[in-house]
Amino acid sequence: MSHENITFTVEDGVGLLTFNRPKALNALNPKTLEEVDAVLDSIRRDDSARVLVLTGAGDKAFVAGADISEFPSMNPLQARLFAEKGQNVFFALEQLSAPVIACVNGYALGGGCELAMSCDFIYASDKARFGQPEINLGIIPGFGGTQRLTRLVGRAKAKELCMTGAMLDAHEALALGLVARVFPAEELLAETMKVARQLAGRSRVALRAIKQVIDRGADSDLKTGCFLEAEAFGVSFASTDAKEGAQAFLEKRKPQFTGSLSQ
Ligand code: COA
Repeated sequence: MSHENITFTVEDGVGLLTFNRPKALNALNPKTLEEVDAVLDSIRRDDSARVLVLTGAGDKAFVAGADISEFPSMNPLQARLFAEKGQNVFFALEQLSAPVIACVNGYALGGGCELAMSCDFIYASDKARFGQPEINLGIIPGFGGTQRLTRLVGRAKAKELCMTGAMLDAHEALALGLVARVFPAEELLAETMKVARQLAGRSRVALRAIKQVIDRGADSDLKTGCFLEAEAFGVSFASTDAKEGAQAFLEKRKPQFTGSLSQ
């Protein structure tokens, strides 16, 4: 499948989706969202990508937001539909069975920050910058930023960031818990791919369960979250990979996980 605004390759069980509009700092227009949606569809249908990594082309930006050049021609209803489209694509990303890592190589602003926050975790280059600068355009975040940022950094910091439009550097984002790890720019992709390949060799049933239980549990009370955990623990226990994991431990050898979804 060839795309205009992104590239997508799969190697060693890891899908690499690169936002590729460097002249617009990889800003998200409706066509780019359609292309991401199509890739997510293909990952759901064909399980060759067991882990997905998102990054941006060029050395300046991950994604510098929604494409502002589209805004003057949008009426309020079209703006609402554009926000819903972005939100739906980001929900699809969040709900993918496979782990998704944001490999943030530069600016992750507006829709770019919202995109990164829809991934399971964020690895950032020491040159990365995060923020929700929509206030500078007289608007508010529209692709889930007010909600996911609040859940990640708390209400007061989320309000401060959305109200001032201030940018965070990678280390500030790390201190806030927005970013999981920071790497020197030249090592970021290689280090991210190393972890992605490691996850591609892990039990798919267990990875999916971790993702689902943490995401759904975080939106529930503790008892409901623990109930979901016990249910998913039972499901993971029944997998072929769980049997192999215990057997390998007892035989003092490395487990050979197959990633099979069967029991
Ligand atoms: N949408 C459309 N085009 C964008 C864009 C966006 N979100 N962000 C950057 N671009 C374009 C610029 O218009 C410029 O195009 P040009 O070369 O044709 O003039 C090109 O990308 C380079 O950007 P520029 O502003 O010249 O780079 P810079 O290094 O001076 O600044 C940023 C980088 C990221 C700070 C700045 O581009 C910016 O503030 N972008 C908008 C971020 C934003 O508000 N995002 C939320 C949108 S809702």
